[in-house]
Amino acid sequence: MTQPLSYSSYLKLDELLALQQPKAVPAHLDETQFIIVHQAFELWFKLVLHEIDEIFLALGKNDLRSATRLVRRITQIERLWLEQIHILETMSPTDFLRFRDLLGPSSGLQSWQFREIEFASGLKDPRFLALHEGNPQAHARLKARLAAPSLWDAFLAALAKAGLDIGAGRMGSLKALYQDPAQEPLHALAEALIEYDEYLALWRAHHIHMVSRMIGGKPGTGYKIVEKNLKGDQAMGTQGVDYLGSTLSRKCFPELWEVRTVLEHP
Ligand code: HEM
Repeated sequence: MTQPLSYSSYLKLDELLALQQPKAVPAHLDETQFIIVHQAFELWFKLVLHEIDEIFLALGKNDLRSATRLVRRITQIERLWLEQIHILETMSPTDFLRFRDLLGPSSGLQSWQFREIEFASGLKDPRFLALHEGNPQAHARLKARLAAPSLWDAFLAALAKAGLDIGAGRMGSLKALYQDPAQEPLHALAEALIEYDEYLALWRAHHIHMVSRMIGGKPGTGYKIVEKNLKGDQAMGTQGVDYLGSTLSRKCFPELWEVRTVLEHP
């Protein structure tokens, strides 16, 4: 007889709760926390990618209202990240050192879901592909996202559908969103997008502060991967916190930030 659906079976809790497998022997108190915080982030990344795909569908139908609502959902998730990242700071830097070596060269730099979010949003840096050559599935997903239209492209397509110039007169069109009340639905979407971008940047800032507090100027665990894959002219900054510092100014929608500079007194 088949069992009726339960909370546990619906959520596949047995499988989910079997996935936290610390490496330290004897066990180290903080490693379970370290794993769960990272896994929780990856689940949120999965949801963000899911929502991004829904946003593409909504914009394909010119449904600006749903697209805006879903972009706001992503921002709400990002707000959580700002809190969540600091859970790690309840571990002391020396406690982290007790199991850090066990991480080998693994690093958040290899989070292909994070990179996929960047690519899907419009922040496309093909140099990152090289980091995922050892994971064909992730590599293929990232390659597909690089080739596919980004959220920024989909936003521009929505502007074009509204009759706005997205070529040479693009800055003028973006200004119009902020100055012409008739463009309210696109203005609401633009504001939702810049907020999404703002919270991603805030996450980077919270992460780098947490990392500085945890490892100071030590090289990150991903240092070896960067050295190996991204050499010479292709090098992406230095190591650890220095590398993270170089990412702080990354923006998914730079033109939405730029338009502020050219807005005039109404
Ligand atoms: C004690 C905890 C952590 C430390 C010490 C740490 C340290 C670092 C360092 C040093 C880097 C730069 C690459 C490298 O050299 O490895 C990095 C990158 C990264 N970390 Fe963390 N991290 C921690 C926790 C997290 C968590 C919880 C996440 C959430 C998924 C995360 C996500 C990332 C991502 C996505 C990158 C790549 C950023 C980019 O390329 O823009 N990290 N981390």
